Amino acid sequence: MTGKTTRQKMLKKTIEDYFVPWIKPLKMYVSDHIELAWQKPGLHRMMSNENPVPPSRKIIKTILKYSALANRYPDQGLSVRSKIAAINGLKGPENVVLGNGSSEIFDMIFRSFVTRGDQVIQEIPCFGIYKLRCELLGGKIVSVPMIYRDNQLLYNTDALLKLVSSKTKIITIANPNNPSGNFMDNRDFVKIAGTGIPFVIDEAYIEYSGLGKSQVNLIKKFQNVIITRTLSKAYGLAGLRFGYLLADEGIAGKIAATLIPWNVGTISMWTALTALEDNRDLEKKVKYNNRQVAFIIKMLENIPGLISFPSRANFILFDAGPAGYKGADIIEFATKRGIILRGEKTQYGSDGWFRVTIGTEKENQKFVGLIRDFFSFNNSKKNRLKQ
Ligand SMILES: Cc1ncc(COP(=O)(O)O)c(C=O)c1O
Repeated sequence: MTGKTTRQKMLKKTIEDYFVPWIKPLKMYVSDHIELAWQKPGLHRMMSNENPVPPSRKIIKTILKYSALANRYPDQGLSVRSKIAAINGLKGPENVVLGNGSSEIFDMIFRSFVTRGDQVIQEIPCFGIYKLRCELLGGKIVSVPMIYRDNQLLYNTDALLKLVSSKTKIITIANPNNPSGNFMDNRDFVKIAGTGIPFVIDEAYIEYSGLGKSQVNLIKKFQNVIITRTLSKAYGLAGLRFGYLLADEGIAGKIAATLIPWNVGTISMWTALTALEDNRDLEKKVKYNNRQVAFIIKMLENIPGLISFPSRANFILFDAGPAGYKGADIIEFATKRGIILRGEKTQYGSDGWFRVTIGTEKENQKFVGLIRDFFSFNNSKKNRLKQ
């Protein structure tokens, strides 16, 4: 090609032509429900798996202390990384990589392993970030539906393993899962880890059950296992944006090469350390949450046709399909009463899905009341029509 024709072709291109092809169909991710909640602070935020308990005085003190140093660049977080390693029985900071929430951690992991044409396997329903980060890199997400049986959503490891191919670059499992709230069987973790494929275990909600339920020890046996965590849930610091990964030091070191320098700010790092040192505050929040999960499930257990999924996290998934109701209608009913809930797409032949996040005691009572009202009003309407 002559220099002239190359120049002519370049002149015909628009800026859109320069984007990598797989980014063209993608859009900025916006959580409409979170936008709505910030715009209308009077609404009850029972949709995003946040913690309803505000930060403690100790946390606020640390935030204020380090805000006075906001003119300085942060260091690489050796103090907080050492603390995290110690809590998890790992050698040291070399096993820990920090991110702006675990969402950024996912971005780093995916950029480390996935390129155009590669595949990532997940079980669905699940947290949306795995698909988003995978597709941004030109990868293809392969989804294995969980099994819906006996009012439970169960992991399907056999089906997952059948989908493993030379294109599989990551297998990712949330444990407990969002939105089903349950744990996968320990034996399944070993089976998946045994494939040697990078295996990401998302433990965003693990503290609600205690670190005894963590799969962190697998790191010592399997170099391909990577654990992700966040301070957004049980620690109640979603707005701070602090997450981390735990891995074999060689693997963590390589993933750390993707780090954007100074990614986690001084305030986040030192506040995270304060939170990680305050076991009593964590324990209080966990106990509160678990009591409230049990309360909501108990209060709604007698509604015929409403299935609730026992949760080891700070949310509860429901299926009103067997009662003949749509999740979307329940969500709309709740919004009218000032509560924002979250939906799920139609699946397993049901459009009755909705999910609630544990709120304050008052909010949880309000939620229970409105669900009861929805069912009694609509059931009596149905009965009247039958007569
Ligand atoms: C399973 C799971 N992983 C990770 C996250 C993201 O948390 P972070 O705030 O750390 O980005 C969430 C948030 O809802 C989640 O449900």
